[in-house]
Amino acid sequence: MSVKDKRAAWDNVFAHGQRLKAFHLRDVNQDTARSEKLSLKLGPLQANFARQRLDDNALNALFELAESSSLINAVADMFNGKHVNQSEQRAALHTALRSNLGDSADSRAAHALALVSHRQMAALIQQLEASDVTDIINIGIGGSDLGPRLAVDALRDFHTGRFRIHFISNVDGSNAQHVLKALDPTKTAAILVSKTFGTQETLLNGGIVKDWLQNDSRLYAVSANIEKANAFGVTSSNILPMWDWVGGRYSLWSCVGFSLALAIGLPKFQEMLNGAAEMDTHFLNAPIKKNLPVWHALMAVWNRNAIGLSTQAVVPYDERLGFLPSYLQQLVMESLGKSVGPDNKAVEHATVPVIWGGTGSSTQHSFFQALHQGSDIVPMDFIGVIKPSHSYTENHQALLANLFAQTEALANGSQGNELQKNYAGNRPSSLFLLDELNPHSFGLLLALYEHSVYVQSVIWGINAFDQWGVELGKKLASGLMPSLQHKNNQAGDAITQSLLKLIR
Ligand code: F6P
Repeated sequence: MSVKDKRAAWDNVFAHGQRLKAFHLRDVNQDTARSEKLSLKLGPLQANFARQRLDDNALNALFELAESSSLINAVADMFNGKHVNQSEQRAALHTALRSNLGDSADSRAAHALALVSHRQMAALIQQLEASDVTDIINIGIGGSDLGPRLAVDALRDFHTGRFRIHFISNVDGSNAQHVLKALDPTKTAAILVSKTFGTQETLLNGGIVKDWLQNDSRLYAVSANIEKANAFGVTSSNILPMWDWVGGRYSLWSCVGFSLALAIGLPKFQEMLNGAAEMDTHFLNAPIKKNLPVWHALMAVWNRNAIGLSTQAVVPYDERLGFLPSYLQQLVMESLGKSVGPDNKAVEHATVPVIWGGTGSSTQHSFFQALHQGSDIVPMDFIGVIKPSHSYTENHQALLANLFAQTEALANGSQGNELQKNYAGNRPSSLFLLDELNPHSFGLLLALYEHSVYVQSVIWGINAFDQWGVELGKKLASGLMPSLQHKNNQAGDAITQSLLKLIR
């Protein structure tokens, strides 16, 4: 389709946005056909979009927008290892880490490398299991921290109990201090996870832990830069590979998940990969109108562009998914936080919303007041788990009752005599229900978000796989280091200089 077709498709979406200005979710809440029509199911996941502010015609306009963005080709390009990360001339083959669905020599080669690396990881796991190591520290930041941290916590019911897993990410030394204080260096192994092995935070924290361990044989690394890991003091046999065709925020499925594999064991790690692979197969093969990641992405585009909502909250009603909002902040905002396309031209539409959230029911007693009565409308992703892993039946019933109550209250609102006790309603949400939270369903859920992000990037015309926006701050910070080390005070603008004077 041509650029003109895409522009017309956008115009059509906006026209439907205008047409539906007076639409209220309250008016469709008795429509059971709507609930069925706006639902999709894949394996352990049921998605319901009935509480989004659109109708059939608007949804069709969104499907046309996806088609006019050549989505089907773009998806095939990603799976086949084409350079969809244009600014760095790289593939984005995170799917090859868990499935072999690509139809190219590059994607097959990537999958073969992933299998070899998983075998290497299995050997290191065996070695550690046979040792007297009891504690593992994952040292990394961003994608080298958030995925493993989320997964280790979310899959706590599946820990073998052989190792305790700890995380150090922040360059704030109190992070390292707090973690190390509770551990015995003779029983601890550390994994430095860094794709580039050039990240300031990870190198500084790695240095602290290396000195503390005083035994490099318990130092491991996961990196695409083996030379730098070697130079740091990690022996080659303790280094697991990464590649430039996996973005940090898409890397949990690689050996970046080493700490997770140590926590839950390889068979459960494989189940997580299989869950993601189920979503990959669906994403690649299901037609646009039945494709779950496409629906998820289209709701995001609808809320961001047609309704004009600038934030998006994610609220899992499951304590085990407590790190999901933080993980998604990187996945979504680092991927989609761009306003210029690969052609170096400003894109024509608003892109990423601010992603935020927390777990229900706790957050009902913090920020939900604003969701119900604040002046900004926040679209929500609610996530629930049908079968709990505990035996406190009444708690679980109360949790689910709260979850359904919130989706209803936000959508329908309620009118009383006093204005300040009114709820305007018409606050949209999507609901995702997992049969249970296990490695498979967890992998499938994360892959849903990954693919949704890609679809959004294709529709908005931006590159989901680079992150130039983080570089300037890094450069300025390294320039300021000498000033903080009292070597000189030349760096920084006049305001920074005056502040530096204050702290000297
Ligand atoms: O600064 C952003 C970033 O590059 C992320 O994209 C990445 O996940 C993180 O830093 C850590 O990078 P690395 O794994 O190379 O240490």
